Amino acid sequence: MQDPNHEDISEILYTADQIALRVDEMGQQITEDYYDRAFEEGIVMISILRGGAIFMADLARAVKLPVEMDYMAVSSYGSGAHTSGVVRILKDLSTTIEGRHVIIAEDIIDTGLTLKYLLKNLNSRKPASLSIATMLKKQVPNQAEVPCDYVGFECPNEFIVGYGLDYAERYRNLPYIGILKSEVYQ
Ligand code: PRP
Repeated sequence: MQDPNHEDISEILYTADQIALRVDEMGQQITEDYYDRAFEEGIVMISILRGGAIFMADLARAVKLPVEMDYMAVSSYGSGAHTSGVVRILKDLSTTIEGRHVIIAEDIIDTGLTLKYLLKNLNSRKPASLSIATMLKKQVPNQAEVPCDYVGFECPNEFIVGYGLDYAERYRNLPYIGILKSEVYQ
């Protein structure tokens, strides 16, 4: 049966197969990078709700090491404040990350301001290490400098949805990432 969400997509950028392959590669890389230190301090993977949850669920299963999973929810102070990078924590971690190896699993970096804030916030909790894995890094001008250790795809500056990314809470469950038809949001 045809998914009605699919009718609103003008172009598929990354198919479900391409995503699965890339996530697997990222998982293998993380496994290699953390093999020597994962057992002592442990890895905590953190997803930023809601978009990042699907990516983290896949990435965690591609890492062949013990991985704990935790979640944060943040919101920006309105659209104007978003550009200033002021972020409010709606749901904090349940885990103490001091002395642990933390990997943030994000679906997308756009302006970079959410992660810039989170890096500062999480670093203040003194993790043993802190790295970022993002499925997508949008190619936008003036993106905040965010050190990304693992990037799935550098994607064009388009209105994209699927694989966790939404428009008005729809399309997150599309198995691929695609460009939303402009008539849907205009
Ligand atoms: C998206 C995405 C990142 C953030 C990136 O979340 O999941 O967390 O935006 O944008 P930035 O680089 O410009 O800060 P969003 O606020 O749309 O919430 P959602 O995850 O619930 O969709």
